[in-house]
Amino acid sequence: MCWGLDNRLNRIIKQDNRTVMLAVDHGYFLGPTTGLEVPKKTIEPLLPYADSLMLTRGILRTSVDSDTSVPIVLRVSGGNSILSKELSDEDITVSMEDAIRLNVSAVALSIYVGSKYEHRTIVNLSKLVDEGEKYGIPVLAVTAVGREMVRDAKYLGLCCRIAAEMGAHFVKTYYCEDFEKVVKNCPVPVVIAGGKKTPEKDALKLAFDAVSHGATGVDMGRNIFQSENPVAMIKAVRAIVHENAFVDDAYELFKGLEKEQNK
Ligand code: R5P
Repeated sequence: MCWGLDNRLNRIIKQDNRTVMLAVDHGYFLGPTTGLEVPKKTIEPLLPYADSLMLTRGILRTSVDSDTSVPIVLRVSGGNSILSKELSDEDITVSMEDAIRLNVSAVALSIYVGSKYEHRTIVNLSKLVDEGEKYGIPVLAVTAVGREMVRDAKYLGLCCRIAAEMGAHFVKTYYCEDFEKVVKNCPVPVVIAGGKKTPEKDALKLAFDAVSHGATGVDMGRNIFQSENPVAMIKAVRAIVHENAFVDDAYELFKGLEKEQNK
């Protein structure tokens, strides 16, 4: 692997081979998502606890100070909206040159396996990997799940493996039963999305189950920034991912921090 690419990936995935990525890219097709109405307000307090920040270039430019040392994972696919009938209708939306100008540590693109535009999104992933390899920028493949897809190990394993075969340097997917099979069959690191907001303890259990079944970490959004106490939540997630904390201990930590904050 090229030294620059390796170095960038090592900035995201820490020495313990784990990572807590903070995903705030939802607006690229959802618009002003709950909790991200004013992105700067949401991002700033969480940034010190994120191993990387995943977002679009518009939010990076407007809502993140350029003196940050937190690695940026730039979403470079889009072109659809929540109103689209076909969510897989995505293309590459940012050139590699602009990603480099923005000094990103990785770029991210969604693939839609089994959906109408499967072919285009998978070929786009390959093209992005070619560009990334040229300049030493790692590529994160996001295995987006169409409305009608079942999130099981067979389907997610297929998506992750295809992403890795196309050359993605790491993959983001969903946690599922038999998740270890998904990880085993994917030769690059796998991180999980948090999904829709759930009670904090459930989201912590999701992070625990994922890392204890082989995930490199989380790329979590709504379960952090939509929490009543986002900072307490990201700290609790960190305890699971980086300190191998058990769910009950991480939840205690969350509750304790919450209490302190409300004093
Ligand atoms: C989805 O395509 C986006 O990449 C989201 O940022 C991602 O799914 C992670 O966010 P959440 O934890 O809210 O699911």
